[in-house]
Amino acid sequence: MTGRKLFVGGNWKMNGDKKSLGELINTLNSATLHADTEVVCGAPSIYLDFARSKLDAKIGVAAQNCYKVAKGAFTGEISPAMIKDCGVEWVILGHSERRHVFGESDELIGQKVAHALETGLGVIACIGEKLDEREAGITEKVVFAQTKAIADNVKDWSKVVIAYEPVWAIGTGKTASPQQAQEVHDKLRQWVSANISEAVANSVRIIYGGSVTGATCKELAAQKDVDGFLVGGASLKPEFVDIINAKA
Ligand code: G3P
Repeated sequence: MTGRKLFVGGNWKMNGDKKSLGELINTLNSATLHADTEVVCGAPSIYLDFARSKLDAKIGVAAQNCYKVAKGAFTGEISPAMIKDCGVEWVILGHSERRHVFGESDELIGQKVAHALETGLGVIACIGEKLDEREAGITEKVVFAQTKAIADNVKDWSKVVIAYEPVWAIGTGKTASPQQAQEVHDKLRQWVSANISEAVANSVRIIYGGSVTGATCKELAAQKDVDGFLVGGASLKPEFVDIINAKA
């Protein structure tokens, strides 16, 4: 036993409407969920208030992004304070789509992490290498650099979950093998131990994301250093309950 509470996040991305998300929420509210697993659903900004008001209190809600300052002339952005104002407790930051579709840098992600934590939100901090980086043998170099940019902005690790999401596994149906996931999670935990502390390395949840399904979750969850999942497509389906209960 690792002593770390399992964490399963859903990332709904830019999907759903009040009808379909309402149906999903009803399914989650009525499901029997593994009591020792922390569950958080990442809703589109426009539906944060809706999701928080409809989801049972046993399930947390996350924003999928936020800006790095409290307020100002930043059309279209939302602040951590606004997220908290909706009763939402978490924010996903550094997702590969923010990095590679919208061009967010490690520096900007670090600044967002700092401000979100200062505001009292929990942060699901995403890292992960691209296929060409894995094929070039620089996976560790990439994920360590991404982790450092996040870690340099963290004072309280109890409010941080690290999500390792190899970009080549996101939305592709090509889930990383349990061995591939465990190898990187182990290296990440070693990095945290060497650069932050052994206590943080032992307590921080490191979760896996990238084509997790009801069929692949159990073997992944059995890996020593896999503390849960960040789930995209499957989190919009009833099978998300199976993934939450992977270790039940
Ligand atoms: O944040 C989780 C997401 O990037 C994974 O997406 O559809 O491969 O589970 P998916």
